[in-house]
Amino acid sequence: MTAPPPVGAPPAVEKEKDERKPAKQKIDPWNVAGEVDEGGNVKAIDYDRLIEDFGVQPLTRAHLDRFEKVTGKPAHRLMRRKLFFSHRDFDKILDYYEQHGQFMLYTGRGPSSGSMHLGHTVPFLFTKELQELFDVPLVIMLTDDEKFLHTRNKNEGQMKAGSAPEDFLNFAHDNARDIIALGFDPKKTFMYSDYEFLGGHFYRNVSEFESMVTYNQASGAFGFNESTNIGLISFMAKQCVAAFPSSYPDLFGLPDYRAPDYDSSAKRRHKELASIPCLIPCAIDQEPYFRMVRDRSERMHDPHPKPALIMSKFLTALQGPGGKMSASDPNSAIFMSDSPAQIKNKINKHAFSGGQQTEEEHRRLGGNPDVDVAFTYLSYFLEDDAELEDLAKRYRAGEILTGEMKAKCISFVQGFVADFQKRREGVTEEVMREFMRPRRLVYGGNPNPVKKQKESSDGWAGAGSEAVGGGEGKEGKEGRGTKGERKAAKLAEKKAEKEAEKLALREKS
Ligand code: TRP
Repeated sequence: MTAPPPVGAPPAVEKEKDERKPAKQKIDPWNVAGEVDEGGNVKAIDYDRLIEDFGVQPLTRAHLDRFEKVTGKPAHRLMRRKLFFSHRDFDKILDYYEQHGQFMLYTGRGPSSGSMHLGHTVPFLFTKELQELFDVPLVIMLTDDEKFLHTRNKNEGQMKAGSAPEDFLNFAHDNARDIIALGFDPKKTFMYSDYEFLGGHFYRNVSEFESMVTYNQASGAFGFNESTNIGLISFMAKQCVAAFPSSYPDLFGLPDYRAPDYDSSAKRRHKELASIPCLIPCAIDQEPYFRMVRDRSERMHDPHPKPALIMSKFLTALQGPGGKMSASDPNSAIFMSDSPAQIKNKINKHAFSGGQQTEEEHRRLGGNPDVDVAFTYLSYFLEDDAELEDLAKRYRAGEILTGEMKAKCISFVQGFVADFQKRREGVTEEVMREFMRPRRLVYGGNPNPVKKQKESSDGWAGAGSEAVGGGEGKEGKEGRGTKGERKAAKLAEKKAEKEAEKLALREKS
């Protein structure tokens, strides 16, 4: 195939030479690469190192206990198994939920291709189960714009066939159907493509946020340079303000301000929505975005609390702990569209084994479940800790062979993918459009918050989605926060930070 002629391309940039020189691990929203040692070998990602580099907190047993106390349910298996392993302010979100009963969940997906793989589904399943546990509203952002801009940037400004904005919008629709097929509840879930939805109060938040980020700050956080297209440089503001409930007034029963019917009562953004806190489950490569938003949310015209984060590791590629599942390498991943036979072949052929070379050796020396991919995948799905521990023990003892571990994994994954495919068939255009329609979400939250609605002063608390008034014109009444209010918020923030530090120290010692 000959390359299509470039459309309106800026001057090409000299490609950086990519020899495998020794290099530190590099993790950002567009790159995930382990350290390369002197010999040119790529090492497994060092997550402890990431915790330090990013300055995030490890998720500890104390957090799991707190989670169990607040929800009355066991901590999620992906937290117990440390796939979700770090956080910012997770404890504060739990406190808030205990006191006031609600928060907003926010996650997303960059639709870089039409097919999702097993690795993509895991964080969504986690989010779904959190949503069920807490009974709170969820927004899912599909960043078709980000993926278009990133792809064009990668292509040195050239517009290649199959990578126009519309192509990424199509991927967003395909991915939306996949995500819906995981079983989200349309009553409490709103999903949107950036190309379709951005506008109204959301765009007002984007604009304000952009005004708080300089080029130096953006390039510092994301590694941009003078050759990066300005769309990609400014994109970050969109992913950041997507964490603000005030970007989606419709979901909370308040009017937005958009074409064609401008509701004059909604000319100003709704300040009462600004106080709703947000929890973001995401993979740790998204941390740079949310560091930016946490540093600025309280400086918004209507100050928003810093969004809390719960962050995961990357899903192991079939080839083993060094890489991650990647849509561009079909042998590294199990796709949600794979047939039972494909799943079987891929796992049997490509799944890295922690077992020994021969059966005799395996029986004698035992296997290592920690690096065994079949075991690792099972750990994402098996609910019962004791059963999983038993599998690990027997694998170590050489009682279970690699083939047996793989067979167990294959049957699990086949079942999961088959159920998924059945549900996916039912996700019609109509079903998809229902999820993507801005509308008031219905959810219950914590049935027994400590502070009943009336006692709380922040306007968003207590029982159910009734908490935010049904769209009476709030304009003008709230006005902008006074200097004193903002100062108080700053002080409160400082205090909270000190407390978090203390907690962290306590955990360390
Ligand atoms: N940038 C993310 C990606 O490329 C998509 C995304 C948008 C996201 N908002 C998010 C992911 C919030 C996690 C949480 O996949």
